Amino acid sequence: MWLKNTWYVACTRKELDALGDRPLGRTICHEKMALFTGSDSQVAALEDFCPHRGAPLSLGRVCNGHLQCGYHGLQMGVDGKTVEMPMQRVRSFPPIRAFPVTERYGFVWVWPGNAAQADVALLPTLDFLEHPDWAYGGGLYHVQADYRLMIDNLMDLTHETYVHANSIGQPELEETPSTTSVENGQVITQRHLSGIQAPPFWQMAMRAQGLDHQASVDRWQICRFTPPSHVMIDVGVALAGHGGFHAPSHLKAYSVVVDFITPETETSHWYHWGMARNFKPKDTELTQQIRTGQGRIFGEDMEMLQRQQSNLSHWPERRLLSLNIDAGGVKARRLIEQHIAKESRELEL
Ligand code: FES
Ligand SMILES: [Fe+2]
Repeated sequence: MWLKNTWYVACTRKELDALGDRPLGRTICHEKMALFTGSDSQVAALEDFCPHRGAPLSLGRVCNGHLQCGYHGLQMGVDGKTVEMPMQRVRSFPPIRAFPVTERYGFVWVWPGNAAQADVALLPTLDFLEHPDWAYGGGLYHVQADYRLMIDNLMDLTHETYVHANSIGQPELEETPSTTSVENGQVITQRHLSGIQAPPFWQMAMRAQGLDHQASVDRWQICRFTPPSHVMIDVGVALAGHGGFHAPSHLKAYSVVVDFITPETETSHWYHWGMARNFKPKDTELTQQIRTGQGRIFGEDMEMLQRQQSNLSHWPERRLLSLNIDAGGVKARRLIEQHIAKESRELEL
């Protein structure tokens, strides 16, 4: 169902910092964790289980870089070892599980599988998230649906015509065929539209970029899926006839939709969504405006996916049909299955 020997986004650093001395409880691939910031600002993730009487450590608080259980005050170190408890000898308690954690691009990444295999070199490379010419804004949704339904959704954007009719949808999307390929361990589904009118969201982006928002444009959507569950989508519009995606920067409004999809249970996931753009990166008001618009658009997806999950759970025996528009999602699922099979074979060795 999901890969475990891999990095998933657990939360943002901002989310953790906003909690002050409170830890963050989060379930990732069925692993219940308590995330907190230890001394020297290092993030740690411990299993959410106090070795004394089993209370959730996520209900405790952080004291001097240790996580103190909220029930009787046992303190745990970032490595999962017990440190101290008032009036008790607890040093001999067996350690609890500490998950490998690292920080990159403003996100906290966690490795829910075998800690011995965790390697920061396996993190995805997303240079634009650290580049000063780019701005990023995003948010988090807790979605009651199988994480693969979100991957399906992002790898087939024909749904925009119906689900997002008032923002990014337009009839030309479903009239223009997409192509899907698998290259270097990525599934890529792309669609290029020529000589169309930009939909409302992109008209706003064109105005922000100083372009005539009513001009005829070429539009592109290039969805890239990489295991375990990241989807980056190049999206944008350029004044018609200048090369579309390859048009010079001053003739286009261009962004990358960033999606980190972290499984929680079989029927729920954490959806970290955002948009990175390389036009007007210093304009924080624009970042906020885009974030609000994107949040509304992705809220429409969430509503559909949760209703879809509810239907699938109600009729588990029903077989679903695949059309050519589903190729991206189908190939992404196949890639996940191949990686899971490889992980199981390694376990058997
Ligand atoms: S259950 Fe945590 S200290 Fe007792
Ligand atoms: Fe959508």
